[in-house]
Amino acid sequence: MQRLTTVSELQAYHRQQPVVRDSRAESDRSVGFVPTMGNLHPGHLSLIRKARQQNDTVIVSIFVNPLQFGPNEDFHQYPRTLDLDCQQCENEGVNAVFAPNPEDMGIIERSDPLSDGRSPSQTTIVPPPQMTEILCGRSRPGHFEGVATIVVKLLNLVQPDRAYFGQKDAQQLAIIRRIVRDLNLPVEIIGCPIVREPSGLAYSSRNQYLSEDEKAKATVLFRSLSRAKSLFQAGKRDRAALFDAVKRELATVPELRLDYVELVDPDSLVPLASVRRQGLLALAARLGNTRSIDNVLLQPIDRKPIVAIDGPAGAGKSTIARQIAQKLGLMYLDTGAMYRAVTWWMQRENINIEDEAAVAGALRQCQLDLQADPETAQCRVWVNEREVTREIRSPEVTAFVSTISALPQVRQFLVEQQKRYGNRGGLVAEGRDMGTCVFPNAEVKIFLTASVEERARRRKRDLEEQGYEIDLEQLEREIAERDRKDSTRSISPLQKALDAIEIQTDNLTIPEAIEKILALVPV
Ligand code: PAF
Repeated sequence: MQRLTTVSELQAYHRQQPVVRDSRAESDRSVGFVPTMGNLHPGHLSLIRKARQQNDTVIVSIFVNPLQFGPNEDFHQYPRTLDLDCQQCENEGVNAVFAPNPEDMGIIERSDPLSDGRSPSQTTIVPPPQMTEILCGRSRPGHFEGVATIVVKLLNLVQPDRAYFGQKDAQQLAIIRRIVRDLNLPVEIIGCPIVREPSGLAYSSRNQYLSEDEKAKATVLFRSLSRAKSLFQAGKRDRAALFDAVKRELATVPELRLDYVELVDPDSLVPLASVRRQGLLALAARLGNTRSIDNVLLQPIDRKPIVAIDGPAGAGKSTIARQIAQKLGLMYLDTGAMYRAVTWWMQRENINIEDEAAVAGALRQCQLDLQADPETAQCRVWVNEREVTREIRSPEVTAFVSTISALPQVRQFLVEQQKRYGNRGGLVAEGRDMGTCVFPNAEVKIFLTASVEERARRRKRDLEEQGYEIDLEQLEREIAERDRKDSTRSISPLQKALDAIEIQTDNLTIPEAIEKILALVPV
């Protein structure tokens, strides 16, 4: 990875790159750009990963932009962790980090701003005032002009094909999209979903200003927005009802000082009296000296939601997933049954699994169908129109299913099938990579986990009920080893989606865990 600290180094870097700018060509070497102010957290990493997936070259800029800080804001305090950031970028496969200093960028600190907050000594990009004078713009005059100016400068310098911004700064994202459109800048702006801590708190570099107690209290922001979102999904569309839901929840933390709660069109940022097509419900609030922002997009879902539950073995995933499906009247996508059905088919067709062509041929001939029994949420399974729900539970299938599941062709075949079910929506699926790989657009992503000790205790209890006696420490070792294997295996490794909500079940009963998940599902 290259570390570029001046504009001329960036320009020299460009000259070394064999960039072909024909987006239709297969050989297109596209450049993805992630502008940041450093102090990278999982929110930034999700942007970098998206850029990595979609481009040949990824450039990250790290620049604490003086133009976007007001005179009484935290420019000097803002966390600067360049070496650590570069290390993270290197780990993520970034090709170059551009970390210039303000003088080299030709930026003068906004020490003596005009009355409207703009810098007097700098050419400034001025976005449409109706987009900058509401939401955060009210209490941060000049902020978005500062953002717009630096982003346009960076886009000119880096000349990316795509640039990545987080939905967390929804107003910034809307303004940048607008500038790119109005000025015909040749770049595609990609907005990426908010990434949250397990508590629901959106990641932000400014979270480190919060004490542990304030951090716990700040989770009320997302809770309040989620309440409004659930109301919205239940049919309430008007501003007053949605604000009321937000404010009631916020009132449970009296120390919190609300700066604003607003409902706007996510593209134009025009305030909405009610949501017809889509709405952005955004808020800003202070705890102590720290100002935090958060938002949710409100869109009538035209399909039922997908709930993707991942987590290590023994965390209670399948019991919980089944019950959630039953309670919500969604399909429990029994991926285990799918692997069993393919195993049954391979056995029936007598396929030599060492012969890749034979496996591929058998998969081509295998038409799977799953239907959920609405009463029990159990899956009934058909292979080529023959119901095999009972047969796939036979000891022969059980003995062979893990061998079949380990075949990359089978895995690829079934992931495609699972994605097809996902297109219809309305399902609950559990596994190891449901939220990351199979259903990356799931409405709800849960990472259900429990400590090794707790999972060993649960397993011991289960075994004792079946009449087996087993040493707890041995079970702990086995579970830790299984975790290690699950997270490092090449096929379908256990991964927590960056935007998944982690639920730790050590001190939760199954009904309590279910209740927590149900509260997150838009109904
Ligand atoms: O979102 C940020 O970190 C900044 O506003 C940006 C886009 C890097 C401009 O300084």
